[in-house]
Amino acid sequence: QKIAVLYGGTSAEREVSLNSGRAVLQALKNQGFDVHGVDPQQVGLEQLKVQGFERVFNILHGRGGEDGTVQGVLEFLGIPYTGCGVLASSLTMDKMRTKMLWKGFGLPVAEMEVVNKADFAAFDATKIVEKLGLPLMVKPSLEGSSVGLTKVKRLEALQSAVELAFQYDETVLVEAWLAGDEYSVPVLDGEVLPSIRIVPKGEFYDYDAKYISDDTQYFCPSGLSEAREQELKQLVKQAYESTGCRGWSRVDVMTDSEGRFNLVEINTAPGMTSHSLFPMAAKARGYDFEQLVVKILELSV
Ligand code: DAL
Ligand code: MG
Repeated sequence: QKIAVLYGGTSAEREVSLNSGRAVLQALKNQGFDVHGVDPQQVGLEQLKVQGFERVFNILHGRGGEDGTVQGVLEFLGIPYTGCGVLASSLTMDKMRTKMLWKGFGLPVAEMEVVNKADFAAFDATKIVEKLGLPLMVKPSLEGSSVGLTKVKRLEALQSAVELAFQYDETVLVEAWLAGDEYSVPVLDGEVLPSIRIVPKGEFYDYDAKYISDDTQYFCPSGLSEAREQELKQLVKQAYESTGCRGWSRVDVMTDSEGRFNLVEINTAPGMTSHSLFPMAAKARGYDFEQLVVKILELSV
């Protein structure tokens, strides 16, 4: 079977996706697959059919890849692909609507205010701070890898943080700060893998901490008690199932100052460099990187 690894693309996470894609390509080559890298920035996706590709490993991150658009094209072309379908991909790219849905299911999320660019003239920073307190987390609804995020510690800094986030999306979330620990929990074929605890050196786990500096600490097993790990896994399973995910995804969770778990977001095409989180948890579960990549491929529909 001729397999395409879709990587690169046009989103703000292009570089990350190129790195993930190279690692996936290498792993599949080592396992003897007939695999080729395809970057949609250079090749129209209709070419996949013309060139005889029969299966796709999709490792595009962000918009135009992780957001249901590519999944829709692949459905249309009749080519099986890894990971979530159109609806789950599209929904979970939108953090605002994902949180609304979780909230509707009674699952815990941080309090938030939604700011739309069209209504920005009426923006009232004081009112938001009165409601949500300080610090705050400001983020564009449709982005990944912490692009456009700001931790706001002072009322005066809120407006410019929102303006920065508007560079990436017309909808911006202002969230109450979650002061506890950060966890990331992969799900593979419906099975929740061991949680990872992330300890960034700076104020939060930003783009630099994710990909550039190497001073972030990762713990897997995360150090939670068995009971707390089970509680977290149960929540992650509900998060995954309620959004209709399939194949594989990674759920990000933070505790608040009381130690309660809050869902942050779900990534349907998680980072897959050899240093990424998903492979770390898979390893703790007994899959090496190549086994993991093959398993994700086998789960394609
Ligand atoms: N959005 C990045 C790639 C991740 O969640 O791993
Ligand atoms: Mg993300």
